[in-house]
Amino acid sequence: MEFSDIESDLTEILFTEDEIHAKLAELARRIEADYAGTKPLLVGVLRGAVMVMADLARELTIPIEMDWMAVSSYGSGTQSSGVVRILKDLDTDLHGRHVIIVEDIIDSGLTLSWLRGNLATRGAESVEIVALLRKPDAAKVEVDVKYEGFQIPNAFVIGYGLDYAEQYRNLRGIGVLAPHVYS
Ligand code: PRP
Repeated sequence: MEFSDIESDLTEILFTEDEIHAKLAELARRIEADYAGTKPLLVGVLRGAVMVMADLARELTIPIEMDWMAVSSYGSGTQSSGVVRILKDLDTDLHGRHVIIVEDIIDSGLTLSWLRGNLATRGAESVEIVALLRKPDAAKVEVDVKYEGFQIPNAFVIGYGLDYAEQYRNLRGIGVLAPHVYS
């Protein structure tokens, strides 16, 4: 899906597919250098991280493995509470592994803060985070993100895995959703 397919649903285009791919290539070069000689386990957080995982993993020139988690935050509406429930757990034993959590977006930071702590208790050698987007103004907890793509304003963003009511995940780029869609 292109921006032109949903033009009236957007107020702003933030990043094109090319800009996203260029940023992921930058992050991949750093990851390759940092993890040379190892085989990190990329842990994707369903469902938003699917596109980031697919493109970042293929950009990397070092061997990697992939696994997936699905988590759900207890809370009302769009507000996450920091209490996280695991809906789908990893299939991989983390003992001695270098883990890189792959996320599409960090909003409050509550999900990742919990997830990093959870994975760290499973015997991983290291746990780092790659996140394509971060909203600094929405942070409720500080999360140390080693590989950060873009900082964005505290707006409702969609595309490239990010949804509104499960729609727009297949938009190639990332844009700001028009209020008339969700109000
Ligand atoms: C999004 C995103 C992160 C989380 C970030 O997932 O993928 O996992 O929210 O929010 P936080 O920093 O406030 O915790 P979401 O719960 O929307 O599920 P999805 O990935 O299936 O769309």
